[in-house]
Amino acid sequence: MADSRMAGPIDVAALRTLFPVLDQTVNGRPLAYLDNAATTQMPLPVQTAMRDFEQHDRANIHRGVHQLSQRATDDFERARSALKRYVGAGPAHELVFTSGTTDALNLAAAGLSSAGGAAAWIRPGDEIIVSGLEHHANLVPWQQAARRAGAVLRILLPDARGSLHAAELARLLTPRTRVFAVTACANATGERPPYEALLALAAEAGALTVLDAAQAVAHEVPDLSALACDLMAFSGHKMLGPMGSGALVGRREALERLVPLRYGGDMVEWVGWSEAQFKELPSRLEGGTPHIGGAIGLAAAAAFIDGVGRAAIDAHVRALRAAAAAGLAAIAGVTVLSPAASSAIVSFVAAGVHPHDLGTLLDEQGIAVRTGHHCAQPLLDHLGLGPTTRASFALYNTPEEVERLLAGVERALKVLR
Ligand code: ALA
Repeated sequence: MADSRMAGPIDVAALRTLFPVLDQTVNGRPLAYLDNAATTQMPLPVQTAMRDFEQHDRANIHRGVHQLSQRATDDFERARSALKRYVGAGPAHELVFTSGTTDALNLAAAGLSSAGGAAAWIRPGDEIIVSGLEHHANLVPWQQAARRAGAVLRILLPDARGSLHAAELARLLTPRTRVFAVTACANATGERPPYEALLALAAEAGALTVLDAAQAVAHEVPDLSALACDLMAFSGHKMLGPMGSGALVGRREALERLVPLRYGGDMVEWVGWSEAQFKELPSRLEGGTPHIGGAIGLAAAAAFIDGVGRAAIDAHVRALRAAAAAGLAAIAGVTVLSPAASSAIVSFVAAGVHPHDLGTLLDEQGIAVRTGHHCAQPLLDHLGLGPTTRASFALYNTPEEVERLLAGVERALKVLR
């Protein structure tokens, strides 16, 4: 396997043969799939790993004495260990499988604001700080947590260019701040906040820190052991893995504080008529039959990314973003959000043109982008913008596809204006 820290160029043509879905025409043009911030495509080795499980080892885990159940349990726990290594988890960390980032963040927010046997982590009068760059999945669960606990929700607002500042966070932090939640990359703008410094500042002030790594996990991959991060959430479908898979990974001490969301089988040590004793982590937070094939696919996706080299992928997608941002900014009437951001996402608005119309005309040219509020309505309102058009890149995208995007936008704007 390649050293994941190496950053040589990647062989995109060879990689594309492993993604058959890309080899098709849409509206008579070769598909340019630029909607990777919503869902990345799944390479053949990941599909093979999942198919092998379904064809040879499919059984429920942790419960059976028979061979298939034991093999499924081994596969599932191997996947957990591999993913812990992928995100830089150490002995003080644990990983809980979830159905994705939304599920993981709901588990965190509900688990910290509900009273289990002991008092909840977030109590009446406490404060929660959430960054203003967040996807709804890292905002709405905290709104609900504040409501449930009688706490106050504060927003770390970005400046007019969409950037977050540590000095502003320092101003908001108080001895009552119990949680600070931030994204590793804003899905609506492509802004890459200085999350390392922000998490460290919040942790120093005594807050439990939460990182939404959904938009970083396919290339940048935050290194958990190097961060002041208590809980980190990510999804399989953003990192070449299956939909409906993901994880909440973090310090055991923080995960221990979570009241379970799902009670039932596989998370209990013993059960009586009126009470039950729960298992240790991670089972305590994984009630019911998990998406075992999903966990296996997720680990296979992590191995695939590391096989290519995550630093090389990171350099590749950032270069595509930079080229797209520069080209779009040069088109009359187009404004690029977070123009200098270094990430895999570029989001833009064209004066007088609705993104939905632009996206439809791009689709007619075989170019798949996303349009709308990208589940980040308060952020786009705060920036004084409505819906945007967003292109987002993965390891299989090419400079030619960026060129097609730029030409496609120019052509569409001529028709629409
Ligand atoms: N969260 C996904 C996106 O940003 C759906 O598009």
